[in-house]
Amino acid sequence: MRFFRKKPATGSFADIGLTTDAHSHILPGVDDGSPDVEESVAILTELHRLGVRKVILTPHVSRTMFPNTAADLQERFEAFLPRIPEDLRSDLTFHLASEYMVDEFFATSGDRLCWPDGHILIEMSYFERSREIRDTIFNLQLDGFKPVLAHPERYVFYQTAFDRKEGVAELREFFDAGCRLQLNMMSLTGAYGEPSLDIVRWLLDHDMYSYLGTDVHACRQIGHFTGFRITDAQLEKVRQLARNNETIFG
Ligand SMILES: [Fe+2]
Repeated sequence: MRFFRKKPATGSFADIGLTTDAHSHILPGVDDGSPDVEESVAILTELHRLGVRKVILTPHVSRTMFPNTAADLQERFEAFLPRIPEDLRSDLTFHLASEYMVDEFFATSGDRLCWPDGHILIEMSYFERSREIRDTIFNLQLDGFKPVLAHPERYVFYQTAFDRKEGVAELREFFDAGCRLQLNMMSLTGAYGEPSLDIVRWLLDHDMYSYLGTDVHACRQIGHFTGFRITDAQLEKVRQLARNNETIFG
């Protein structure tokens, strides 16, 4: 009788070579991410230890949950930076953007805090597809922005209710329409469940992700960025996403 051992998990944060984090909730006290400067500094210290040198802060903006305005966020960002210890701050580059909830209010809100290269991070509720998502992807590009859909693997409505391939058909449509897709690092561990991991593998195999983010909300999460349940070939594609991130700052 032969025994097949389960293939061991492969890779951890350090193996990916992420130097630019495109998605994070480190700006303190503005959303469900870091609650205070101490936690934010702890997160940055850990990210720095793991090789990150450029950090895009992407606080949630959602009229109903996190009604942040660009002006408020900018003010808080400028107040936060001097509170980071000098030795850490001097070795990091920061950029303020946002993660915008696509809802009925987004189209008319004028705030558009983007990545340095003009990409704008958008998201939907995990449980309910945004009715405005198609129009938003189209109209953002008409206005000269480059939409990036955050963590497509986390949306439950793509995971369930229909066959996986049908579920990702809409993501293919968005991709073909010019919307880029951003992978969450923790999704690689299976932390969001098997259906989510199936989508991760499928999107990696079909080269449909463009960028990678930690989407870190708390320092304790960073210890879980390890034990990725993907193949070596898929890990190599994740490394390429980390390299893609390096182009964001030009
Ligand atoms: Fe996020």
